[in-house]
Amino acid sequence: MDPAAARRILEQERARGLDLIGRAASLEDLEAAKVAVLGRKAPFSEVQRSLGSFGNADRRDLGTATNEVREALGAAIEDRRAELERHAEAGLLSADGVDVTLPGRGPRPGSLHPLTIVERQMVEVFTRMGYRVAEGPEIEDEWHNFEALNIPPDHPARTMKDSLYIDIPGMLLRTETSAVQIRTMESQPPPVYVVAPGRVYRREAVDASHLFVFHQLECLAVDEGLSLADLKGTLEAFAHEMFGPDVRARITPDYFPFVEPGAQMAVSCFVCGGRGCRVCGNGWLEQGGAGMVHPKVLENCGYDSERYTGFAFGLGIERVAMVRHGVNDMRLFVEGDVRFLEQFEGVA
Ligand code: PHE
Repeated sequence: MDPAAARRILEQERARGLDLIGRAASLEDLEAAKVAVLGRKAPFSEVQRSLGSFGNADRRDLGTATNEVREALGAAIEDRRAELERHAEAGLLSADGVDVTLPGRGPRPGSLHPLTIVERQMVEVFTRMGYRVAEGPEIEDEWHNFEALNIPPDHPARTMKDSLYIDIPGMLLRTETSAVQIRTMESQPPPVYVVAPGRVYRREAVDASHLFVFHQLECLAVDEGLSLADLKGTLEAFAHEMFGPDVRARITPDYFPFVEPGAQMAVSCFVCGGRGCRVCGNGWLEQGGAGMVHPKVLENCGYDSERYTGFAFGLGIERVAMVRHGVNDMRLFVEGDVRFLEQFEGVA
């Protein structure tokens, strides 16, 4: 190689090198470009190797030119590398990044539990009739849960078989919302018009129609001159609001220690109209117990049982919800299965 050829090659290689480096689209491309322009087999390296064969003056000039080209290409490679690294990082960022222009994915709103929905609807029917909501504790003493309700210590309902006692003597999980009748009457003089919705506990084996925790809505009215007709009328008004205007209410004799007379309430089946079908069997759907408040219960709360009479009933909230929404297994209310629960979205 002569000095003139060496000069030409250096200029060509500078131009070719800068072009290759500039076009490298990735760090791998850049590495390949570096090998192609400065590698052992590159024309540039051949020039460098032939420097020794030139005369002094050419060797000095060409040596300087070779250094310049190497430095220029080296600097171009480093610049391009820095640029590609910045791009790579920016690419990663945008790949994982949040696109703030996309519509958001908000958490899915929950909905009310079907029992909450039905309880609120039931309460509303009564508050529209002038009733007030009363509440009581879920851990009760035996006076409010039993004695004051005319359930003496030797009554079978008191045994461990039905009730869930806690470690504190004389305290248990309330077995019925009727305990709230006592608390209400103890806290105010008549007249009384209250409904007490809430959770109750019993020792039950769980199946499609029994849970050991369930909900009742207790209704209590005490005033002068109330009779069984008022009980039936109230129950019927409730049934019309909840199940429809054609539904009839029925009361049949039953026994509860805290009422006299006592009754079982049922409403005519809304599916078959009372003729009898798969849902109801005999045309009636049982709703709970009822009756005229026992004079002893009124006296236990300091009310004058000669002057005042009252009626009370306890509706099962699960039962009302099952009838109203065609639910055939009570366990669905406590299993928390979203496929069941989401069917009540937007119901109330
Ligand atoms: N407390 C009774 C029960 O749980 C229902 C009831 C309420 C009966 C009020 C009469 C009066 O079965």
